Amino acid sequence: MKNFKKILSVVLATMMMVLVVGCSSGEKPKEEKAASSDKKITMGFSQIGAESEWRTANTESVKSAAQKAGVTLQFSDAQQKQENQIKAIRSFIAQGVDIIAFVPIVETGWDTVLKEAKDAKIPVMIVDRDVKLSDESLFVAKIGTDSVAEGKKVFAWIDEYMAKQNKTPRDGGSKFNIAVLEGTVGSSVAVGRQNGFKDAMTASKNVDKYNILLSQTGEFTRQKGQEVMESFLKSDRDKIDVLFAHNDDMALGAIQAIEAAGLKPGKDITIISIDAVKGIFQAMIDGKANCTVECNPLQGDLIMETAKKILKNEKVEKHVYVEEGIFPADVAAKVLPERKY
Ligand code: AHR
Repeated sequence: MKNFKKILSVVLATMMMVLVVGCSSGEKPKEEKAASSDKKITMGFSQIGAESEWRTANTESVKSAAQKAGVTLQFSDAQQKQENQIKAIRSFIAQGVDIIAFVPIVETGWDTVLKEAKDAKIPVMIVDRDVKLSDESLFVAKIGTDSVAEGKKVFAWIDEYMAKQNKTPRDGGSKFNIAVLEGTVGSSVAVGRQNGFKDAMTASKNVDKYNILLSQTGEFTRQKGQEVMESFLKSDRDKIDVLFAHNDDMALGAIQAIEAAGLKPGKDITIISIDAVKGIFQAMIDGKANCTVECNPLQGDLIMETAKKILKNEKVEKHVYVEEGIFPADVAAKVLPERKY
């Protein structure tokens, strides 16, 4: 009798468990729901704005890739403000999107909102720029560019070019003076490009030939690039040998300032920048710029492909860097017709 009671209670407990599991099967967690079918995906995407030619190409790439991939895109433009991005991410969470992707305007300040996304079981992808987080599990994948490598390529090209061209410092001194137009303060790309450049310079056997004379943010825009270059030229018109602009748009603005100051961009001042947008290719063809290091904005297809994998619970790489080249002026005319942005 004692044994029979024991068996009966085990059977009853098992039946209860089956019932509980049965009832809750209609309430699958979010990631299982998305993984279980080919249901249409909704992605919340927070873009930082439209500060440059590059950014416009990046936005177009994301939008067209979403359309091609059948992903419904909730697109939000943050107008260069982190607080707008945080608001957008919160609104994506409230709407219950399947996945969130965003371009972090600056590196820090994302922990709280990304924790909220994680608590809501919404996977997050970081696009283009990097973030500094206390907990790396707050995002699933990062797709973007390697800004430190870009900065290193810039220095390597300058060092080779100055030697090949037999350049001598314009002020008659022993060092080439470099002016830098930096990107958005606090952004991973500005920090990475500057650090990569400085590290390569410090590590070079020619370190003593160079001096970073001026360095200031031009906020990645053409207008600010022009304004800051004007002020550089006011103080040091006859000292600057090289301009390194963290993006092509600032270089294009600076070219106008250099011409207005009565100097020849690309000749009196050697100009190298980052992005490889069509505008800088034309400037190189016109002899007004010398080199561009590519930063590839065409990330849309990879973003959509990765989002689908994440939602099917497939393994994805944590950090994916897109391929990037380097284009000096002598290849500009040949390459421009093939450029997609
Ligand atoms: O984050 C990528 C950078 O941001 C690009 O170099 C620049 O043009 C853009 O605005």
